[in-house]
Amino acid sequence: MRIAIIGGGYVGLVSGACFAEFGVDVAVYEADAGKRAMLIAGQIPIYEPGLDRLVADNAAAGRLTFPASLEAGIAGAEAIFIAVGTPARRGDGHADLSYVFAAVEQVVKQLDHPVVIVTKSTVPVGTGQKIADLARQLRPDLAIEVASNPEFLREGSAIADFMRPDRVIVGADSENAREVLRRLYRPLYLIETPIVFTGLETAELIKYAANGFLAMKITFINEMADLCEKVGADVNDVARGIGLDGRIGRKFLHAGPGFGGSCFPKDTLALMRISEEAGAPSKLIQSVVTVNDTRKASLAARVINACGGDVKGTRITVLGLAFKPETDDMREAPSLDLIQGLLAAGAEVTAFDPVAMPAAKALLPPAMQFAADAKAAVSGADALVLVTEWNEFRALAPRFLAAQMRGRVIIDLRNVFDPQAMRDAGFAYHGIGRK
Ligand SMILES: NC(=O)c1ccc[n+]([C@@H]2O[C@H](COP(=O)([O-])OP(=O)(O)OC[C@H]3O[C@@H](n4cnc5c(N)ncnc54)[C@H](O)[C@@H]3O)[C@@H](O)[C@H]2O)c1
Repeated sequence: MRIAIIGGGYVGLVSGACFAEFGVDVAVYEADAGKRAMLIAGQIPIYEPGLDRLVADNAAAGRLTFPASLEAGIAGAEAIFIAVGTPARRGDGHADLSYVFAAVEQVVKQLDHPVVIVTKSTVPVGTGQKIADLARQLRPDLAIEVASNPEFLREGSAIADFMRPDRVIVGADSENAREVLRRLYRPLYLIETPIVFTGLETAELIKYAANGFLAMKITFINEMADLCEKVGADVNDVARGIGLDGRIGRKFLHAGPGFGGSCFPKDTLALMRISEEAGAPSKLIQSVVTVNDTRKASLAARVINACGGDVKGTRITVLGLAFKPETDDMREAPSLDLIQGLLAAGAEVTAFDPVAMPAAKALLPPAMQFAADAKAAVSGADALVLVTEWNEFRALAPRFLAAQMRGRVIIDLRNVFDPQAMRDAGFAYHGIGRK
């Protein structure tokens, strides 16, 4: 079986490498000439644990290729996956579908055989039908079917998520399209992964509903954390206390600086717009968006308060820049709002992240400093803000920090440090929703 994947970003590259590992012949076509040249040269343009090895192994086995042209990529493919970006459109928050439709148009115009076009990109309800209409209009001579196969992988554990997903969603209106995807996912079928077949619109909505729900869960525990701070309760214990209830579940109940990343911010915004336009507005999702935006915008004030109300000339170290550990993705990362606010208030900011600094440098003002490692970052700092919970930061011992830092303020936006141990070492410790 041979397939093509259009877009060699986080989703396209991981899906391509994993399908190749399943034994499928996969061509991943990336439009960006710089990234494409890297892929052809055996380099990986993104950071994702284990991906370099998986790509190298499958490329060496001849199952994974990075064609120089779209035409070569789609030749002989039974299914063509669209895995291009769908960022929030400036101004109105709708999903920007220009990359999706451009990719579909390019593909359809060059096709010389019937095919199933599969959207892996997260696209609003109704997009699949629009793709089918466009394909029919451009190529009335070819039988082009459309399916939706939304992706649920998480950056940082993307390969394991793809290889052992909780479920696979396939939205398709024809038996042929369902059969192509059934064959493709056969290795997962063998390990008893539930494969849920639905109509196109339902599959498209499942993706937004899943991300909307998870974003809501995070936002709920963040609000509970704020309440804990007012009433003297501990949010970690609240999360455990409710999470042990099987109906609630323990995941996505970690209080923190607010969600960021390439999916939740844009997908909640898009779900808000989709529901408004359909005449069934989701007030819950509207609140999630507002509460989360407000939380991120107030991070600098939280740190400034912890530092005594004025940070002019204060040396503040930020540990962690990516929106979560094990990725270099800086899209909508809370660190961006925080650092900009601190710099505006006159602080001297130094940051360190194990992998995200190259991506962060392009987004942050030149006024800030980047350190070579965590030790250099904390050396001489008046205050430390832990933003992303990389394992190497969890291991920073209170006594080590006390020896390196000039000041004694720790703002732990991920609740990874032991408050008592920090206080015993002389620090004023500020977690999220903790005493
Ligand atoms: N990143 C995630 O964790 C994640 C998880 C699930 C779903 N998704 C969804 O998957 C989609 C892709 O996300 P991503 O994070 O991989 O995006 P990305 O920006 O990392 O990758 C998209 C890639 O597509 C390329 N591209 C754009 N137009 C193209 C074209 N016409 N032909 C070939 N290549 C083209 C871009 O150059 C880019 O490299 C989005 O809709 C996103 O919402 C992402």
